[in-house]
Amino acid sequence: MNQYSSTTTLKPLSITDLAAMKQRGEKISCLTAYDAAFSALIDKVGVDMMLVGDSLGMVIQGHDTTLPVTIRDMVYHTSCVSKARKRAFVIADLPFMTYPTPVIAAKNAAKLMQAGGAQMVKLEGPKFDCVSFLVDQGIPVCGHLGLLPQSINQLGSYKVQGKEQAAAEQMLADALKLQQVGAGLLVLECVPASLAKDISAQLTIPVIGIGAGVDCDGQVLVLYDMLNIGTGKRPRFSRNFMSGVVNIEEAITAYHQAVKQSLFPTPEHSF
Ligand code: KIV
Repeated sequence: MNQYSSTTTLKPLSITDLAAMKQRGEKISCLTAYDAAFSALIDKVGVDMMLVGDSLGMVIQGHDTTLPVTIRDMVYHTSCVSKARKRAFVIADLPFMTYPTPVIAAKNAAKLMQAGGAQMVKLEGPKFDCVSFLVDQGIPVCGHLGLLPQSINQLGSYKVQGKEQAAAEQMLADALKLQQVGAGLLVLECVPASLAKDISAQLTIPVIGIGAGVDCDGQVLVLYDMLNIGTGKRPRFSRNFMSGVVNIEEAITAYHQAVKQSLFPTPEHSF
């Protein structure tokens, strides 16, 4: 526990704790995690949330996209992460094609929560019916707008979303509707900083950015990108936090502190 931790207890944080952080203007730090050792370390440093992202398809499994990741993969990695954490809030991704209907989404979300130990599930896109149905079943949901990696074959490339006015207006409307149907958090990926600022200000739920500027309520990065051990080129919105430190714990601490103090991301990491 350190000076940037929002509580001195090791009770797991809840969605209401995260909402309270937004209310009092405290930035929320988040990293992806996929195994018990990193989960324990990230948790020890005091990072507020861990996302078991389907990015594991790329950084752990070596695929080119997140599409091959299965619900079984997600349950396995989520349970590894959940078992080792004491305080951080754990979110797990519903992978590609595991939420084509609300009922199928609920069955898969239940696996992530019951067998995986996730406290919340995340799904990509303006899937209002799924979000509403999951929330009705007592399943907390995180929305995800902007760049949607599961739609890479429709998008053609991993590029910034919401640059045109019409697309920006649509994203704001989708964000408000996701909140209205019960989403408890929203991730914005690769979105112009000014649009992310606007969405964060208009929503009452916490908005977590990745490549979305400094004015979101919190930040998330893919762990392996910020440790500079990714298999591909580090994205422009990430930073090598291993630079200038002697070990991984110091790098994660530097990231956590930079997020808490609004020192990351800088304009260099924003669009
Ligand atoms: O899968 C993942 O790691 C994610 C983040 C990029 C937000 O969804």
